[in-house]
Amino acid sequence: MDISAPKGDPPSPLDPASIPNTILTPLTSPPGYSASDIPDLTGKVAIVTGANSGLGYITALELARQHATVFMGCRSADRGTQAVEQVRAETGNANVHLLKLDLADLAQTREAARAFAVKGLPLHILANNAGMPGTPFSLTNDGVEKIFAVNHLGPFVFTTELLSILVKSAPSRIVNVASSVHTAANGIAFDRINDPNVSQLARYPQSKLANILFANALDRRVGGEGVYVNSIHPGTVATEMWNNDNKTWLGRLISPLVLLASRTLFYTPKDGALTQLYVATAPIIEMAKVRAKYFVPIGVEHTTGLSACARDDDLAERLWAFSEELVEEKIGRGQPVV
Ligand SMILES: NC(=O)c1ccc[n+]([C@@H]2O[C@H](COP(=O)([O-])OP(=O)(O)OC[C@H]3O[C@@H](n4cnc5c(N)ncnc54)[C@H](OP(=O)(O)O)[C@@H]3O)[C@@H](O)[C@H]2O)c1
Repeated sequence: MDISAPKGDPPSPLDPASIPNTILTPLTSPPGYSASDIPDLTGKVAIVTGANSGLGYITALELARQHATVFMGCRSADRGTQAVEQVRAETGNANVHLLKLDLADLAQTREAARAFAVKGLPLHILANNAGMPGTPFSLTNDGVEKIFAVNHLGPFVFTTELLSILVKSAPSRIVNVASSVHTAANGIAFDRINDPNVSQLARYPQSKLANILFANALDRRVGGEGVYVNSIHPGTVATEMWNNDNKTWLGRLISPLVLLASRTLFYTPKDGALTQLYVATAPIIEMAKVRAKYFVPIGVEHTTGLSACARDDDLAERLWAFSEELVEEKIGRGQPVV
């Protein structure tokens, strides 16, 4: 597959003028939903990716607090083990485990899903939370541009490998942690994924658009089988993502303000994780059959927040076919999708 063909103009990068509207969260009124609203999750099994820090850590912590069995998907064994121990210590829940997962490595990602599968456990909640911010162009060892690989292609492999378990465990849920910054992407530049000329201002929003398109394409495949797939924007949250030493485009753009803003305007990780926790656990999701929807802070379904591209079913199907073909080219065919 040629994914670096320099044909035509590269997709337009994020217009800096649009940033305040797309990435900064309006200061909303105090949340009407809190971690104490999470129901008892005894008997439920969850996987949270990127669980050693930020939103993923809080998500794993709160699921464990309500007695779920939680697998914390982390790429670093050291950071992951430390996070698992902290969650166990804070919640008293011994059913919290490390699942070694590096989404930048497609074969390892498939292996991680299979390592979970051989345990023979059900899977009721998959929080596709891990992600990386905009960074200068680089390729993974698989030869795929890194932001697209970590934020979309890795989660595509991980989720599709686990799909038959999620269907068997229904009712079950998948939450894709996207971002309102997806509105800055004017499509998926399929033939330029590996084009170094595509600005990093375009690649992160594109990957977050892919999160929503993927959720919607998943819903078309398994929504009717009791798997509730939704996507969310967590708000602008003071996490490691912003602590980038000016290496990322977002950091360079707003670094003088970030420290101040993170202490005053940003959500804390505790509040920022609430939207994905809501979508992953609130009984109303199943009661009202809420599927293929997009939520913003805190736990609010946002009907107008999606860009036209994010609502484009043909684009979602193109992304699915493209991802399947690219994965097959890199690591061979995976589990048949149910
Ligand atoms: N914070 C915000 O304002 C904001 C806004 C909108 C959307 N989001 C989304 O929220 C999600 C969580 O981010 P966060 O804000 O909590 O940032 P964070 O604290 O930096 O957490 C990101 C997590 O993803 C993991 N990760 C990165 N690369 C990985 C890889 N190759 N394989 C597996 N895991 C990997 C990180 O692991 P390491 O510790 O090993 O790097 C970390 O655990 C992301 O999808 C992000 O795009 C965040």
